[in-house]
Amino acid sequence: MKSLKKFRIIDLINWAEVYFKAKKFENPRIEIEWLIRSVLKINRIDIYLKFDHVLSDQELKTLKSFIQRRLKREPLQYITNSCEFYGMEYFINENVLIPRPETEMIIDIAEKALINKKTPKVLDIGTGSGCIGITLASRNKDYDILGIDISDKALDVANRNKDNLSNISFIKMDILNQTPKGEYDIIISNPPYIPLKDFPKITKDVRGYEPMVALTDQADGLTFYKRYMNIVDNILKDDGQILLEVGLNQHPLEVKKILIEKGILDVKLIKDLNGDNRFILA
Ligand SMILES: C[S@@+](CC[C@H](N)C(=O)[O-])C[C@H]1O[C@@H](n2cnc3c(N)ncnc32)[C@H](O)[C@@H]1O
Repeated sequence: MKSLKKFRIIDLINWAEVYFKAKKFENPRIEIEWLIRSVLKINRIDIYLKFDHVLSDQELKTLKSFIQRRLKREPLQYITNSCEFYGMEYFINENVLIPRPETEMIIDIAEKALINKKTPKVLDIGTGSGCIGITLASRNKDYDILGIDISDKALDVANRNKDNLSNISFIKMDILNQTPKGEYDIIISNPPYIPLKDFPKITKDVRGYEPMVALTDQADGLTFYKRYMNIVDNILKDDGQILLEVGLNQHPLEVKKILIEKGILDVKLIKDLNGDNRFILA
């Protein structure tokens, strides 16, 4: 890396493309551009306009440390403390799940479900970075949103992302042992749903870096859905709806069964853009 000193952006891109490829990274160019953009605090277009910009010693030092972390397979979002969700930039750190592009569809489904409601009350359970609740709050100023999470550190991130929004607030709560006050028009949740037995199978990027409390319920992947059915009568309005993200394969059907056993008749499975059942609206 010493030889990188006095290198221009374009030199670094060319070098890293070869280097990352040799290290078996799938998208070397995207990776290095993302890291450079974060170090220089510039956007994608600026990278192309500033190909001849020579990095300062400090910028190079930061880039070098970013590259070293990435080589250990730390996700880019944690290295750069940023993630895009539904076109908005979120602050992210290792205390929260990295918002997934698949989850963005929850925003569309929720807004459609609430289209005829006036000042709907929304509960976002397991809010993490706050990406679901905050995106809804910033797009719909009439929504009144409460985000809850068991993790203080996740709530710090959510509050940081909240900015000046006044229609969303966050509280600490263990939903498996406590019940939120009030009744909601919609309960939205992307809970930890990876069964403990599948945990060893998930990739090192995820398993080694993302918070375990955000990934698995330490059981069969159904704990949260069963709990929601135990408390739903207390926290949902009579005409309220529940919108849940679910996993792959049999998981959506298992969750659907839990809802049907509760006596909920109208349970819709909604597919993501890959054609997989990923959401339940009931
Ligand atoms: C899969 S993450 C979802 C984060 C975010 N909503 C998203 O979609 O990117 C699940 C979240 O549930 C939280 N969580 C785990 N156990 C919880 C509990 N018992 N009560 C409340 N929140 C919990 C975790 O801290 C984590 O932030």
